[in-house]
Amino acid sequence: MDILILGGTALLGRAIAEAALRSGHTVTCAARGTAPAPEGTSFVTVDRDDDDGLSPVADRIWDAVVDVSRHPGQVRRAVRDLRTRHWAFISSLNVYAAFDRREQSEDSPVLAPLSGDVMEDMSAYGAAKVACEDIVRAADAPATIIRSGLISGPGDTSGRSGYYPWRFAHPTGADVLVPDDPTFPCALIHVDDLAEWTVHAATHRLDGTFNATGPTVALGDVLTTAARVAHSDVAARPVPAAVLAAQGISAWMGSPSLPLWIDDPEWRFFATADSSAAIRAGLRTRPLEDTLADALAFENLRTGPRPAGLSDDEERALRAALAAS
Ligand SMILES: NC(=O)c1ccc[n+]([C@@H]2O[C@H](COP(=O)([O-])OP(=O)(O)OC[C@H]3O[C@@H](n4cnc5c(N)ncnc54)[C@H](OP(=O)(O)O)[C@@H]3O)[C@@H](O)[C@H]2O)c1
Repeated sequence: MDILILGGTALLGRAIAEAALRSGHTVTCAARGTAPAPEGTSFVTVDRDDDDGLSPVADRIWDAVVDVSRHPGQVRRAVRDLRTRHWAFISSLNVYAAFDRREQSEDSPVLAPLSGDVMEDMSAYGAAKVACEDIVRAADAPATIIRSGLISGPGDTSGRSGYYPWRFAHPTGADVLVPDDPTFPCALIHVDDLAEWTVHAATHRLDGTFNATGPTVALGDVLTTAARVAHSDVAARPVPAAVLAAQGISAWMGSPSLPLWIDDPEWRFFATADSSAAIRAGLRTRPLEDTLADALAFENLRTGPRPAGLSDDEERALRAALAAS
């Protein structure tokens, strides 16, 4: 197949390009060129913020176009200007209107679509993805809409999925400080598993909307697995949510934070979803241990400040605050 990836130079788009190459497809990546495209692909410079920005890739009929955008205007222009036999659009679980129930399926209510063309900030992320989904669904070719869960493995620049394996591998004391919520539901999908399935979906022209997450697993099991891949016998030490809040430590992401967990009952099932339709349609996910080992390898290469979790000084300060309380 002749596949166009709108993007192809960041975490998932790059992995999709590489997966498509491995399957013998011809791959073109189209982006502004902030980072290089994978070797073996053709790269075309485009700026999707320009109204005719996609004209360099609008001169032929593609077998599949993969889009990772968050901006409805970019997606609208792609659907208007490109000719393809199939669309694959990378969406997110953030489209759902509520996260107060376990393992929701694709027919659960979603947010109202963003009305503008541009997602101004991350507070509009879910609504923007809903609008993008609607635009792609209305295109005159079959479309796979892929609602991804948290992506892990090599290239996770957010640092969320690699924090705990990295912290167990590089402890600052006698224990690793973790959220006091071992049953919190987590799911991590390895970027290469999601990429392989995206190429599979395009190849088979799967027409529909699919959750795509890793298997649901409790946070306590993620932490145990993180310690195992780090070959660490340091204990996990749960820290009550009230202590974390008092110390200004966020949940889920960012710095300082304790990631992969949310202290809000309305968001308890945010990270997980029913991905059985995707599994029936060919999604295969590797064991969590392998995913976290790859995330750790990536974290070990990181230079500069970590984008998620606690720095050494922050973890020591939290331990001191626990001792003082
Ligand atoms: N990370 C997660 O855990 C997670 C979870 C759920 C869903 N998702 C979804 O998964 C996808 C991740 O995709 P990703 O990692 O490949 O993408 P990404 O980090 O969103 O990168 C965007 C890509 O689009 C290109 N781009 C950005 N602005 C552009 C413009 N104006 N014109 C042309 N190209 C432009 C970028 O290259 P240039 O900068 O060079 O232009 C880059 O290749 C996203 O759809 C995200 O919403 C992620």
